[in-house]
Amino acid sequence: MMGNSGGAEASTADSLGELSCLLPALRLLTASADLEHYGRDWTRRWTPAPLAIALPASIQEVREIARWASEHRIALVPSGGRTGLSGGAVAASGEIVVSFERMNRVLDFNLVDRTLTVQPGIALEAVHKAAAEHGLIYPVDFAARGSCSIGGNISTNAGGIRVIRYGNTREWIAGLKLVTASGDLLELNRGLIKNSSGYDLRQLVIGAEGTLGFVVEATLRLTDPPPASQVMLFAVPEMASLMRVFAACRARLKLSAFEFFTDRALHHVLVHGAQKPFDEVSPYYVVTEFDAADDMQQQAALDVFEQCLNDGLVNDGVLSQSEAQAAALWRLREGITESLASYKPYKNDISVRISSVPAFLDEMQALLAREYPHFDVVWFGHIGDGNLHINVLKPTELGDADFVAQCERVTRLLSEVLVRHGGSISAEHGIGLVKKQYLAGTRSAEDIALMRGVRQVFDPQGLMNPGKLFD
Ligand code: MLT
Ligand code: ZN
Repeated sequence: MMGNSGGAEASTADSLGELSCLLPALRLLTASADLEHYGRDWTRRWTPAPLAIALPASIQEVREIARWASEHRIALVPSGGRTGLSGGAVAASGEIVVSFERMNRVLDFNLVDRTLTVQPGIALEAVHKAAAEHGLIYPVDFAARGSCSIGGNISTNAGGIRVIRYGNTREWIAGLKLVTASGDLLELNRGLIKNSSGYDLRQLVIGAEGTLGFVVEATLRLTDPPPASQVMLFAVPEMASLMRVFAACRARLKLSAFEFFTDRALHHVLVHGAQKPFDEVSPYYVVTEFDAADDMQQQAALDVFEQCLNDGLVNDGVLSQSEAQAAALWRLREGITESLASYKPYKNDISVRISSVPAFLDEMQALLAREYPHFDVVWFGHIGDGNLHINVLKPTELGDADFVAQCERVTRLLSEVLVRHGGSISAEHGIGLVKKQYLAGTRSAEDIALMRGVRQVFDPQGLMNPGKLFD
């Protein structure tokens, strides 16, 4: 039996009983509130309907669960902080959710290797704190840091606000332990810096969205903290200026973030209690962070601002003078997702090469204006990486299904624009359930066939997070 289909409820109950006998110490939840809580992520589009929730406390328990599931052909869904935005952690078809909530500890710090070995359920923020205790940083960072887990970050190759300097999660994984569908334990790369010994399965697992097995341990690379920084917010009058501001900043400053948002995004964040940065409203805003450890670097930031002002690229700007001010400026950008959540936004998370951003933005703006004349469409994102988030807000009077259908129609058109610009339908949120119908616009038929083949080798029965990435 795969999932709960086939009306085999009695045998399902028997199987669960068998699992409990096999692993008497395993926490197994079946109360409806738990099924609902652990069966969904931030997408809120699917009705959670898992069979049960398993909360293993050790790698050995995960291996036993995988073996048992393989024997009974029961589907498994890995679960971390469930902050995903593509439905990658949704369990809506009688699967067993394997939550890593109890496997959330730091296991080891190695000063010589500058690595931190952690269990998959640890929150990103806890990783940041653990690194800071040793005077180092784990540089991947984004707004969900307090709730997302490192296992989920690895499974989606999470990006965030520091990619411009440090790259994606992929760059920071020195080693992984993976439990496969058959319950085998693989130790991938073992923290090595140099390892030219054939296929790098570690990199295959990163971004696989749990379809190749469960990440049960990760060794993370750490690095030195950056020098003191400052944050600058620009008010930008025209879309065409955004990338010119980027070029001006990049030419003089050592950037650690370059993000943008629109007046609509600012509107929602202000409604949620953030402080208005400027008297005048501007259609676009840029928030950028850069090294500002000495007078020369600080002066360079002022020069860039003046140059942008003189060239008419920006109308106004504010430079942080304290950590509190920097945090207040960041809140304008990082508070956007939360401020929109109650509208059940339909999300696009797309990317093109940095050099393609201006032409792509033109086409995208025309498309969105034409296709969404009556919806509140909120854009923001990591524009310095070529990554844009489009959040379309659901009008209260429109039903969920109608709303999604309308947005899917526009996403098909957007996907065609992305194909023309060589972009991706998922920059950092993953494919999950939400984007799989658009995968063929981003990956070739040959790519997808090979991905299916890889999946088949790792998981011949298709029990690891089935239905995610592709059917
Ligand atoms: C962000 O960068 O804030 C999130 O990845 C985007 C979103 O919520 O759509
Ligand atoms: Zn993002």
